[in-house]
Amino acid sequence: MLHIPFFWSELFYMPSTVVVGSQFGDEGKGKVVDLLARNAELVVRFNGGNNAGHTVVVEGKKYKFHLMPSGALQGKQCLVAAGVALDPRVLLKELEQLEGKELSLAIDPRTQIVMPWHNALDGAKETAKGKAKIGTTGRGIGPCYADRASRTGIRFCELVESERLRQRVEELFPEKERLLKQVYGSEMQQGKEEILSLYDSLGKGFAKYLGDVSLQVSNALKAGKNVLFEGAQGTFLDNDFGTYPFVTSSHPIAGAVFTGVGIGVQRIDRVIGIVKAYTTRVGSGPFVTELHGELADRIREKGKEFGTTTGRPRRIGWLDLVLIKTALRLNGFTEIALTKLDVLSGLKEVKVCTAYEYNGKTIEEVPADLGRLGQCKPVFEKLPGFEVQGTETEFGQLQQEARDYVGFVEERLGVGAKIVSVGPGREETILR
Ligand code: GDP
Ligand code: IMO
Ligand code: MG
Repeated sequence: MLHIPFFWSELFYMPSTVVVGSQFGDEGKGKVVDLLARNAELVVRFNGGNNAGHTVVVEGKKYKFHLMPSGALQGKQCLVAAGVALDPRVLLKELEQLEGKELSLAIDPRTQIVMPWHNALDGAKETAKGKAKIGTTGRGIGPCYADRASRTGIRFCELVESERLRQRVEELFPEKERLLKQVYGSEMQQGKEEILSLYDSLGKGFAKYLGDVSLQVSNALKAGKNVLFEGAQGTFLDNDFGTYPFVTSSHPIAGAVFTGVGIGVQRIDRVIGIVKAYTTRVGSGPFVTELHGELADRIREKGKEFGTTTGRPRRIGWLDLVLIKTALRLNGFTEIALTKLDVLSGLKEVKVCTAYEYNGKTIEEVPADLGRLGQCKPVFEKLPGFEVQGTETEFGQLQQEARDYVGFVEERLGVGAKIVSVGPGREETILR
């Protein structure tokens, strides 16, 4: 008789789902995670920090999450995993926003802490770059991950223990102060004792949230519980596979779940790529389908495309299927969720980029080299415009031309859009 190893038999009970951005962030991950969290027991953030801004709209009320998983409103167990860069000052504000809501939160002891010198360095480095700046969110995320890689980061398990925190700050503060002053001609906004006192009180307040997220999630998966992993940013902001150097400093692709949470690689069975019906990007970097002028302004206004975290106007472009196809491959999407279809409503015709023209050749993969990507020209296919009311709750209620747009995307990608979003509200969603 065939002997099935224990871990194989477990595979049949893996209801775990990863939600990731397929473009440059802000695809509507927060909305979809809130929706899916209804059927999840645990919701886990595994990458990025409060450079993320995830919006959830429930009964007309808008909630903005930067660190808390967007499952918070569904009263689910929220977990912040080791791969996150956690700014405790921001988490405190966010928890205040949720005051009154029943909340269960665990933060992994290995989670890296964003310190005030990370913010200062983020700003100083951007200023030093001048025109070549990345256009970061200024939240200290890059310097925080750089310290993790340099093995000089402070972790959550140190934040919650006064003596260890003091030791680490004593050790790091002088070096960071010198770096800021001597290299960047800048300075720290707060003194060492001020930082220590603030972080110590934050650590004391958050000590109750200390929990081994890697262990908790592993156990939950083993027990067949439904776990939802909430990605931040988007595929093309990935530190390796994005439009480097115009990227973030963590890994927004699905594979980062394993290293960010600390679970085995056989444990994911559903990967949902969130695809905005058009493209947006905040910050610098190449953008092949970018639009300028009236049409871009119209989409920006209608889609309220201003950063959730920084308020910056987002750059706008047509849907780029070369990006999405590459994202599909990088993440292994089993399905997509198409969001903000309503924003394209009312246009006479819409365009979709299906290939790039580079050096006289047609290509269908995003080139790794930024120099080449910068020279790529979009090859567009035109589709008829459509109207979306935002009240449609079934696919069949959508106008034929809108269904054709969704069908076109599905056909070109070879995966289905099981969720189609037609408005910011929880109920403005078509589940197929
Ligand atoms: P995230 O970072 O991927 O979670 O996305 P953001 O929250 O930063 O940006 C998405 C914005 O679009 C938010 O303001 C959402 O409320 C909004 N949104 C999400 N889905 C839809 C949709 O289908 N239609 C419209 N009009 N807005 C949407
Ligand atoms: P969510 O999770 C959109 C962008 C910044 C900048 C680059 C590097 O809401 O989709 P960083 O501060 O991370 O060092 O900035 O990455 N960026 C985002 N853009 N949505 C985000 O998150 C982003 N997080 C970072 O604009 O171009
Ligand atoms: Mg966002």
